[in-house]
Amino acid sequence: MAIPHPRDIQLAAVRWLDERYPFTKAIEESMYQRVPNFANAFYYCFGGMVFVIIVLQLVTGILLAIYYVPDARGNPAEAYSSVLFIQNSVYLGWLIRGVHFWGANILIFMVLLHMARVYWTGSYRAPRELNWMVGAIMLLIILGFALTGYLLPWDTKAYFATEVTIKIAGSPPPPQLGAFIKQILQGGPVVGPPTLQIFFTAHVFLFPALIILLMYVHFRFIRAHGISEPM
Ligand code: HEM
Repeated sequence: MAIPHPRDIQLAAVRWLDERYPFTKAIEESMYQRVPNFANAFYYCFGGMVFVIIVLQLVTGILLAIYYVPDARGNPAEAYSSVLFIQNSVYLGWLIRGVHFWGANILIFMVLLHMARVYWTGSYRAPRELNWMVGAIMLLIILGFALTGYLLPWDTKAYFATEVTIKIAGSPPPPQLGAFIKQILQGGPVVGPPTLQIFFTAHVFLFPALIILLMYVHFRFIRAHGISEPM
């Protein structure tokens, strides 16, 4: 029996997959989108840069989660000790943590630049209002990431900064609403182990799931409308 050429095996495999789902068509549609010339200006990159930083945050976050322990009981607490361990003992831990920290800061800056571009070119107008709203929700989620991530090292600065933020978040009238928000965020009468548990869950499970879903929606909208014409 003649030995098949590797290229024929490859083609047969692609054909087999395409008969079950149109993979080739889906990849071609996503890779070969024509982009208008005016979108070559550097400020049309900001949204893409936000996306790249979010991917970097997800990757470095997963690596940090391998060693991070979300336990605020005891003194020193495991949460604090595990961050010290990542920083000082884990191979390249200082780098992964540093990239995650600076990525978070640059992310907020880039999102604001991206929003400024969308605002400046009037791209929030019809038919893109819904996509602007999706963006606004993603901005809130990104701020939520920053708030919840800040507490995770469980050091003095994180503790007292979070105490202040929760106090502010729990201050809107009527008092019942403020008290309700405070209870949801804090998980008890003071900032303590339940607060860390809540913040960790939001930071590591809830917000990543939401942002991935909303980025998908954001990109589907962009594909449906095409990039807006300059004003
Ligand atoms: C997770 C954060 C975000 C990501 C990954 C993202 C990504 C992108 C990308 C890649 C584009 C294509 C054009 C460009 O890059 O400028 C875009 C367009 C757009 N974005 Fe975002 N974005 C985010 C947040 C936001 C926010 C916070 C807003 C506003 C509140 C927003 C509103 C829009 C609108 C309206 C468009 C369409 C612009 C047009 O057609 O010219 N986005 N976004």
